[in-house]
Amino acid sequence: MRVKKQVERKYNVCNTGLTQSQVQTVSRVEKHNPLKSGVIAQKRAALKGESSGRMTEIKELTFDTVREDAIQYGLATDVTYQINAGKEASIFLAHWRGHHIILKAYRLWQSSHKMSKKKGYVAQGTSKRTHFILGMMEDLAVKEYDYLMNCFRAGVPVPTPIGRVGNYLTMRFIGDGTQPAPQLKDVHLENPEKVLDQILDDYLLMYSKAHYVHGDLSKYNILWWQERPWLIDVPQAVIVNKWSDMLKVEKLLIRDIKNVLAHFETYDIYRDPNHILEVFLTEYIPENLKNYRELASEGIELL
Ligand SMILES: Nc1ncnc2c1ncn2[C@@H]1O[C@H](COP(=O)(O)OP(=O)(O)OP(=O)(O)O)[C@@H](O)[C@H]1O
Ligand SMILES: [Mg+2]
Repeated sequence: MRVKKQVERKYNVCNTGLTQSQVQTVSRVEKHNPLKSGVIAQKRAALKGESSGRMTEIKELTFDTVREDAIQYGLATDVTYQINAGKEASIFLAHWRGHHIILKAYRLWQSSHKMSKKKGYVAQGTSKRTHFILGMMEDLAVKEYDYLMNCFRAGVPVPTPIGRVGNYLTMRFIGDGTQPAPQLKDVHLENPEKVLDQILDDYLLMYSKAHYVHGDLSKYNILWWQERPWLIDVPQAVIVNKWSDMLKVEKLLIRDIKNVLAHFETYDIYRDPNHILEVFLTEYIPENLKNYRELASEGIELL
């Protein structure tokens, strides 16, 4: 009984207006349990804008919030305008002391929950759900920053990463003046054969030196600037190392290669994707996985 009193005092649950039996069933832990059906229904309602979603008000990032955050976090001195709103992130043209930079804001959802006011810095004891969502957004920004940095160091033409705070990331602006470089799909190439070779060389560098499979390489994620291709949008890239599932790596590689080749077919250029895959695999396979194909055909699980 004494222990129960202490617990009640610690969590201050006595003055909630609930009866003693209700207090016992509605503990703090349960209140924030994301699997509790009532809570999920309330979140859904909140997303639809219904007032019954009383747990956490969930809203999208606004331009003003992004600008305020970027300046406060020291990522930019100003944010000019939004360039693009992708699946998981919004892209903004920003300034760093007179230089144009790109600000990418991951925004699965943005919560205005009292405890998550400092977005990206989740105080201990916040709702698990809010914490989880913010964590996911932050993970994507961390990944993109690291992957861009590793590619840049390996000499791959990617936008140089500049800074990262919470779910925000800044990088070099690829383009002229305030005009972002066009995507490969929007340019007419004078010498497509040469450009295709360049893209494959750049991708080979990414794979063999930085050890990543891009995972979403296509005419959309290649920009054309200063007479050369630039590879962008890397957060879904997959690291290729001694723990990799090489069969999965193969699948992703061939998908990327086929996506690129498909674009060049519009220029009547046809290449064999399997041959290109072999060139990549000849260049790099993690040491302990060299004979992964033989092991896979014998049904031995690859580690
Ligand atoms: N560093 C950069 N310099 C100039 N423009 C950029 C840069 N990064 C992104 N962009 C512009 O923003 C667009 C979207 O960028 P990115 O593909 O990285 O974002 P995304 O959120 O994955 O978008 P999507 O879901 O549409 O692929 C690009 O196609 C390009 O027009
Ligand atoms: Mg993209």
